Amino acid sequence: MKTILVTGGAGFIGTNLIKRLLEDNNKVICIDNNYTGRFENIKQFLNNPNFKFIKHDITKPIKIEKEIDEIYNLACPASPPHYQKSPIFTLNTSIFGIINILELAKKHNAKVLHASTSEVYGNPLEHPQKESYWGNVNPIGPRACYDEGKRVAETYCYEYWKSFGLDIRIVRIFNTYGPYVDPNDGRVVSNFIIQALKNEPLTVYGDGKQTRSFQYIDDLVEGMLKYMEVDKNKLENKLKDKFNWDTVPVLNMGNPEEFTILELAYKVLELIPESESDIVFKPLPKDDPVRRRPDITMAKEVLGWEPKVKLEEGLKKTIEYFRELFIRKGV
Ligand SMILES: NC(=O)c1ccc[n+]([C@@H]2O[C@H](COP(=O)([O-])OP(=O)(O)OC[C@H]3O[C@@H](n4cnc5c(N)ncnc54)[C@H](O)[C@@H]3O)[C@@H](O)[C@H]2O)c1
Repeated sequence: MKTILVTGGAGFIGTNLIKRLLEDNNKVICIDNNYTGRFENIKQFLNNPNFKFIKHDITKPIKIEKEIDEIYNLACPASPPHYQKSPIFTLNTSIFGIINILELAKKHNAKVLHASTSEVYGNPLEHPQKESYWGNVNPIGPRACYDEGKRVAETYCYEYWKSFGLDIRIVRIFNTYGPYVDPNDGRVVSNFIIQALKNEPLTVYGDGKQTRSFQYIDDLVEGMLKYMEVDKNKLENKLKDKFNWDTVPVLNMGNPEEFTILELAYKVLELIPESESDIVFKPLPKDDPVRRRPDITMAKEVLGWEPKVKLEEGLKKTIEYFRELFIRKGV
């Protein structure tokens, strides 16, 4: 039985991951300051003796008495409205947060899987995006607090990997959706579903021709578990032999199928046939990327992982979750 620390565990990805880790018979310590996470998400775990919640802000140093085998560092506001609400807090969470986590990992000799993002590619000039692409990021725009914070966090991972030989893996997560997303956090899939369920117009920014790839959460969780599981030397040697990758391990995880935002909107409306919503267009926010699609060749090759859940199937499950949530809350 492993003891696994999950920061940001009350958030969307964290809740889904913890559910799976507990099912797999691990002990889980969840750290969250409830900044964007929903405590409601993790209420389901509170009676489980293998689960412990610590309310803590990871920008402050962390001490854990128990031995820790693995750390998933997920803590960070992730949607633009949330990370732009307090940009300095977002930057601090990425930067001081990763320092505190890496120091903790050093003390416990624990493996770290750090959640980075496709945002490190910014508005990419290369398509699809490979891990070797350095990105096209505006360092002084409204998205910079998130993008640049995540880029610096990757640099810390690299330096701790290089200087102390820590076992660190970085995952660059592309747009992921599914149950336990905060209904108010403004992400496109949940926004459309909620708007359609409430018969409100679906808000499309720009002309809706910008593309995104949408990964269902179960695929991501499966990928992260496989990534954490693989032996350090095996992983690093494979990356070096097959891809000439001789630095800290980095893998993209996302669904390479690409859809326009407008296609997504129509799909959601098709799956909620009773909805009376139509579509409204609003100006595109500054620095919004035009195209995003992961190249997942490396993850396929080194982990034998690729997403399995089709958009329609994932949307149906997510719609079910929100329908149930709204019924439960009487919305
Ligand atoms: N969901 C996606 O599509 C996506 C894409 C790329 C990257 N990511 C990354 O994955 C991670 C998890 O994302 P998510 O979608 O679950 O977001 P989320 O907002 O649902 O969850 C983030 C969690 O971190 C907590 N948190 C934030 N700052 C904290 C701090 N300083 N100390 C302690 N806890 C803190 C929040 O309260 C929340 O519970 C984030 O690091 C995000 O950048 C997510």
